[in-house]
Amino acid sequence: MSSSPAIGFIGTGRVANTLARALHGAGYRVTALASRTLESAARLAQAVPGARAYRTQQEVVDASELVFLTVPDDAIAPLVASLAWRADMAVVHCSGATELGALEPARRAGARTGAFHPLHAFADPLVALANLPGCAVAIEAEEPLYGELETMARALRLEPLHLPPGTRAIYHLSGSFAASFIDGLLHEAAELWRTRLGVPREQALKALLPLAYATLDSVAKMGTVEALTGPVSRGDAGTVARHLDALRRDHPRTYALYVQLARRSLAMAIERGTLTEAQRAALTELLGKE
Ligand SMILES: NC(=O)c1ccc[n+]([C@@H]2O[C@H](COP(=O)([O-])OP(=O)(O)OC[C@H]3O[C@@H](n4cnc5c(N)ncnc54)[C@H](OP(=O)(O)O)[C@@H]3O)[C@@H](O)[C@H]2O)c1
Repeated sequence: MSSSPAIGFIGTGRVANTLARALHGAGYRVTALASRTLESAARLAQAVPGARAYRTQQEVVDASELVFLTVPDDAIAPLVASLAWRADMAVVHCSGATELGALEPARRAGARTGAFHPLHAFADPLVALANLPGCAVAIEAEEPLYGELETMARALRLEPLHLPPGTRAIYHLSGSFAASFIDGLLHEAAELWRTRLGVPREQALKALLPLAYATLDSVAKMGTVEALTGPVSRGDAGTVARHLDALRRDHPRTYALYVQLARRSLAMAIERGTLTEAQRAALTELLGKE
């Protein structure tokens, strides 16, 4: 691959709309685009100087030295198997959870294969473009492609993260704990307010979100263990017992979730070393027997 490779994108949805603009802005040559429909590729071509929309995906492969596959995860393997690849090129997918095995037909044809997954939520392309600098990007590839993608990451002001082979599912699901599960936990809290306190969900969120923001701020400043607050972190077994009593009968699913999370908080409080032996024993008995 040359030092300024001709870059193509197959799939011109949310990620491509941001990444193609960002690469162009960083001085890379984005030259070829195709998607399921020509209209979709043509729209992006209008926003990226030098890029041309092609009717077929094979034309993008033929015109490019580096092809980004920015299609839905399940489309990657069949797409790669349906195209003819060359030895003097590279193909890189942007999926978090998909192993490089999905690119095997291209590798067998001699192409270098890799993955480049920005740890970011892409919705509006221009908003994502503004928020991209500083985000991590998980890179998996063998040298020299790894180094080329690392250089590209730095040019985009992303923080490269090396992923060992076979770890993509764990890497990707960990993101759920940091993103969508936080959403789920806030939903759980707002539902309790709605169903038990008679407070509409929107109003509940307005009251609860400052707590969430303050927690994230503390985690950013102090780390997860030091930032832990709440009755488990203080060793207040009596309060935890009251919480469990309030949930046990009428909210069995929330009760089960509370117990799981409180056990995690207890492990963190023990790691922090601020609980007395008696507090630790009381909480362990309370949560352990649930
Ligand atoms: N969205 C995120 O936050 C995010 C973050 C990091 C990584 N990713 C990864 O990036 C990849 C793309 O995600 P996305 O969010 O950009 O998806 P998306 O917005 O749904 O866009 C997918 C694009 O692929 C096209 N497409 C679908 N099937 C195709 C096929 N068989 N051949 C060619 N094009 C096809 C669609 O075509 P049309 O436009 O013609 O309908 C669409 O433009 C995925 O692997 C995803 O896991 C996403």
